[in-house]
Amino acid sequence: MQVIDSLKEMIHLSRNWDKNQKIGFVPTMGALHTGHLALVKQSLESCDITIVSIFVNPAQFGANEDFSRYPKTFEEDYQSLLDLGVDYIFLPNSNQMYPQNYKTWINLDAITEVLCGASRPGHFTGVATIVLKLVNLVRPTLMYMGEKDFQQIVVLETMLTDLNLETKIVRCPIVRNEFGLALSSRNRYLSDQERMIAPEIFKAMQALRASFRNEIIDTSELLSQLEKSLVEKGFKIDYSEIVDSATLERVKLVRRGDRLLVAVFLGNTRLIDNMEI
Ligand code: PAF
Repeated sequence: MQVIDSLKEMIHLSRNWDKNQKIGFVPTMGALHTGHLALVKQSLESCDITIVSIFVNPAQFGANEDFSRYPKTFEEDYQSLLDLGVDYIFLPNSNQMYPQNYKTWINLDAITEVLCGASRPGHFTGVATIVLKLVNLVRPTLMYMGEKDFQQIVVLETMLTDLNLETKIVRCPIVRNEFGLALSSRNRYLSDQERMIAPEIFKAMQALRASFRNEIIDTSELLSQLEKSLVEKGFKIDYSEIVDSATLERVKLVRRGDRLLVAVFLGNTRLIDNMEI
């Protein structure tokens, strides 16, 4: 496994990929967990070359968010990727990705202004910008992304289509711990007690899904029940929405195939999760 920490080297490598080979790419911010490793395994199974980037992207964090304390676990990440048989780690730094006088940002309309985009203004501009830069540097055939960040996938698929890029996203299912908590690097922030409560998000989502039996139901009824049960468990609601899974537009009456998305705070930690209805 080779670690590439220079953009020049990355460009040289990607401009010489063998046209007959499938290049699999897993963009990450490090602090890898089993969910990331599932993406890597899928790439290793389907692609000829697998490259994982590790870059904690300052542009996608708001002023009061956790950029400075975002977990950094490079030694463990390196070992896990080596054990799996990854070909390359791409490890750029901030000065390379955003040199002084950096001016170019990617903005998408509408779909970045709802859900997490409404709570975290500018977040998806940061995500879209860095992912476009990474895709341009790495030139992957397939990019593996987890459905835990459902809105991120929809935003990035839209960007790739709109900008006529050839890279395709492979959506990978959410990986959960044995109690149902969706894996996330931010779960490391949870105290032991919070860790016991956090799986209630999944339980509340399952309860909502179970209460929908194909009849026509107003989403607000379902969501107020879900929010009530989460507040009782000690969560602070950021949002809960049922949306059309392709457009992310809020739906008034639920249909099978719609997507339930939830963002809550448990103590200081913001947790997100989602599920198909
Ligand atoms: O999902 C993430 O870890 C990040 O948003 C990504 C896609 C690596 C961009 O920084």
